Amino acid sequence: MKKAFFLITLLFYSCSSVRTVPLMKGKDRDTYESKGREYMISSQGGASTNAGVSMFEQGGNIVDAAAAVSFAISVERPQSTGIGGGGFLLFYEPGMKEPIAFDFREKAPLKSHSKMYLDKNGNEIPRMSLDGIFAVGVPGLVAGIVELHKKYGKLPLSKVLAPAIELAEKGFKVYPELSRALKARAAVLAKYPGSKKIFFKGERVMKTGDHLVQTDLGQTLRSIAKDGKRSFYRGWIAKAIVKESWRLGGLLSLRDFKKYNVKKRKPVFGTYKGKKVYSMTPPSSGGIHVLQILNTVEKEDLNHFGVHHPYTVHLTSAAMQQAFADRARYLGDMDFVKVPLKKLTSKKYANKIRKGIPKEKALTKEQVMAGNFDRKESDHTTHFSIMTADGSAIVSTQTINGWFGSGVVAPGTGIVLNNEMDDFSTKVGAVNLFGAVGGQNNLVQAEKRPLSSMSPTLVFDEGRPVFAVGTPSGTRILTCVAQTILNYFEHNLPLYESVAAVRYHHQWYPDEIRTDLKGLPISTRNSLKKMGYKINRKNLGCRIQAIAWERNELHGVSDPRGEGMSLGK
Ligand code: DON
Repeated sequence: MKKAFFLITLLFYSCSSVRTVPLMKGKDRDTYESKGREYMISSQGGASTNAGVSMFEQGGNIVDAAAAVSFAISVERPQSTGIGGGGFLLFYEPGMKEPIAFDFREKAPLKSHSKMYLDKNGNEIPRMSLDGIFAVGVPGLVAGIVELHKKYGKLPLSKVLAPAIELAEKGFKVYPELSRALKARAAVLAKYPGSKKIFFKGERVMKTGDHLVQTDLGQTLRSIAKDGKRSFYRGWIAKAIVKESWRLGGLLSLRDFKKYNVKKRKPVFGTYKGKKVYSMTPPSSGGIHVLQILNTVEKEDLNHFGVHHPYTVHLTSAAMQQAFADRARYLGDMDFVKVPLKKLTSKKYANKIRKGIPKEKALTKEQVMAGNFDRKESDHTTHFSIMTADGSAIVSTQTINGWFGSGVVAPGTGIVLNNEMDDFSTKVGAVNLFGAVGGQNNLVQAEKRPLSSMSPTLVFDEGRPVFAVGTPSGTRILTCVAQTILNYFEHNLPLYESVAAVRYHHQWYPDEIRTDLKGLPISTRNSLKKMGYKINRKNLGCRIQAIAWERNELHGVSDPRGEGMSLGK
């Protein structure tokens, strides 16, 4: 039966064999790719990768490197991430049964509630969850990284923070991507004196080539170097943020900071053709749906067809559509709501999904219903991966959500505060910054963590991590991660090509396949259109940071679409 299906499928598509894989190009392959025999770091910034490398060079371990990268990238990419935000991290070292997932996602302030973004007629108040103080969730990054480091790090915190402090105080040249973000968010940043002081030169926002110094942030980082998370959650930093929140009529209180807690969680787990896959569990939807997509396509011999063959793209896109329908229906913070995690990640459910996908016809959004068990955008957030030859690995995705988060910097702190509250459903059925449809389970509730798509992921083979991967870019995160895993393990592309290959994304709503600007091969596009797909060429924003363990060697690739760097020894 299976064979017959395969043969029919093959016959249907036999006229269009697609073997060449269009690649996205960057400035210089040597920056993006590296090989090493001791350690490897792939991050979205050269200074940040170097910060991590300097920890290994000083005798530090993988956790020191991860902490140094986290703080340095907070300075190097203030548009994307920072200590005013939060994130997730998977950590594994030999001897552990499985990786530990650290959840340092922002929490909704104690005074927040499900109707806070609605006017008295029940309509959403435009941009209230995106710009300004009401968009801010209680930041978790400092607690997450400091706690991880305290337990597993080797070097003193002051050494780990040194590269970030130096980068903040000496400054660096504004690069084109940062300049684009500054321009896009200039009007919001200009509203807050704390933000304007840093990112403006007089009345104009900074641009490429200007020298960006973040003196206040340097001071804040010095405090953290001295007393860990104390000043941030109980001392002058918390007070400065709460003072600015009061001035702006916001909800943040000192109790919110005191009550912030990091959660250690069990990662979601699945297999793909014998390899073990671990990824982030709720409050991220990422891991569940990466597994769901992999499970849905697993029984097909996609390798036979090729990466961009119409059948590969059709089947994978339909798997993505289903994942997003389920995301809207079921996903939320499992500390507050029930999520059918086991069912969503089961092979049985995946088989059912696969059987419902017609061989040569697109499914419309109305045809895709969540399983029954019983807006505008831009590129921000950051991801880094680190692996060592002894078999330790860390993957972490960190964010302040949109470009420059809420736009608010509490004066004197240098900290750009997140707008992670937009990841909640402002009301059932409303869409967020990334066009993801919001459901009941993800409504705002005091202390709840907003639903995320961030998917730091580790793949294991024969008892050790062999693949570390993750990316920024909102809802596209989970589809970009799933595709990179498929490119490498299913299609056997080399690592660089697995990362650089043109990618596609379907998120159920809107009803279209979105692809990198360069586009899929023309023959594939034509076939997909015949099947009824709409295709929208618009870069996905993903910046995959991948590391593979290959024949006793570490191989790192930072996405050539971005400004990152892989470096190892
Ligand atoms: O947690 C999430 O899924 C989003 N807040 C991530 C935002 C993001 O990746 C923005 N990047 N391009």
